[in-house]
Amino acid sequence: MSTVTQGGPSLPQERRVVTEIPGPRSRELFARKQSAVPPGIGTTLPVFVTRAGGGVVVDADGNSLIDFGSGIAVTSVGNSAPRVVERVRRQAADFTHTCFMVTPYESYVQVAEKLNEITPGDHAKRTFLLNSGAEAVENAVKVARHATGRPAVVVFDHGYHGRTLLTMSLTAKNMPYKHRFGPFAPEVYRVPLAYPFRWPTGAENCAEEAAAQAIDQIDKQVGAGNVAAVVIEPIAGEGGFIEPAKGFLPRIAEYCRANGIVFIADEVQTGFARTGHLFACEDEGIVPDIIVTAKGIAGGLPLAAVTGRAEILDRVHVGGLGGTYGGNPLACEAALGVLETIEAEDLVGKARRIGEVMLPRLRALAERAPIVGDVRGRGAMTAIELVVPGTLEPHPTAAAEIARRCHAEGLLVLTAGTYGNVLRFLPPLVMPEHLLQEALEILEKAVCEV
Ligand SMILES: Cc1ncc(COP(=O)(O)O)c(C=O)c1O
Repeated sequence: MSTVTQGGPSLPQERRVVTEIPGPRSRELFARKQSAVPPGIGTTLPVFVTRAGGGVVVDADGNSLIDFGSGIAVTSVGNSAPRVVERVRRQAADFTHTCFMVTPYESYVQVAEKLNEITPGDHAKRTFLLNSGAEAVENAVKVARHATGRPAVVVFDHGYHGRTLLTMSLTAKNMPYKHRFGPFAPEVYRVPLAYPFRWPTGAENCAEEAAAQAIDQIDKQVGAGNVAAVVIEPIAGEGGFIEPAKGFLPRIAEYCRANGIVFIADEVQTGFARTGHLFACEDEGIVPDIIVTAKGIAGGLPLAAVTGRAEILDRVHVGGLGGTYGGNPLACEAALGVLETIEAEDLVGKARRIGEVMLPRLRALAERAPIVGDVRGRGAMTAIELVVPGTLEPHPTAAAEIARRCHAEGLLVLTAGTYGNVLRFLPPLVMPEHLLQEALEILEKAVCEV
């Protein structure tokens, strides 16, 4: 059996279920959580973690679960990846914070230089750093409004951009993200997304018709000249891993270019090798004006970035951007460790390989199990959408039951989707192949039983 140095020395890369899941120690801790933390902070699987690394998460009862979640697409390089740990350890001993806006340090600049270099497009770019995906999306919109002098922001059906007031307003789904949290920010307009599986006239018409409808709505209901930015995920994450029909994104990007609208790609979930490209926009050669990244950027330390055209970002006055912790030195060192790991371990190639293993098996499963209506995704960002067999009717209870069975067998999976009927798979890109195969067996069994 293989072991990794991630998560401490010699963490065995095995699935091991030694108690009921959750076990007694986790239950005890969960009871404490219930009385100390409000229920609004939900829990996918109430096992309390003690170690994690490679493709596993180990809990307080000694169970070792196969990780198909990566902390929601964050630990792409694996938990406690050695290059991240080493850099953070050294930085923590040297200094933990100065505030980059007060007295700067080199690692922030290195992260900015690196992102300017590796994000799509060879134009002059600038990068500034923040703490979370939502904060970065908000800042991208601020910059776009400042640069254009326009108020409106266009977003898409099934989009998810965060939980702050503006990003919650940009998010499509009411429950649980928006319910009773209004009133929402003004000047946000939502248009159709090219969702091939559910497009009324068929997947083959989806890209063209959805783009035409979206553009028509912007023209007629908002007016292109009032739009500061279009914000879009190249693959809708929380919305259910919806890969827009090919041709849709380039058409929207072209419309933005023609109308002086800032095209903002929200790559918070899709970024940093996850989809088998460093950034998902690369799949169709999209060059966004601004790209927003977070999650996978720093191996679990809180960091996010706004990277964009120098002529847009340079417009904002001195002091107009920032925050106390944005680009904290520990998080910057972690990001440098992540970028080194992606390169040294060819994690772009590993993400592709994960897709090559998973997608054919998921498609074969869909042949056998008519409850699986759609199989989709790229690289290590794949999903199945569950329906009442023979229909398009979403089947969220089946998704929940399959997830429950996977969890009981020691496979951590996440659900997603506007209709709550999608199971999504986000293994760390360093997942050993034997665990990937074992996880697929558990999943196949759970789907067939349900
Ligand atoms: C596409 C996308 N944008 C923004 C966010 C918000 O990021 P954060 O939770 O770090 O604020 C998320 C989080 O899931 C996301 O998936």
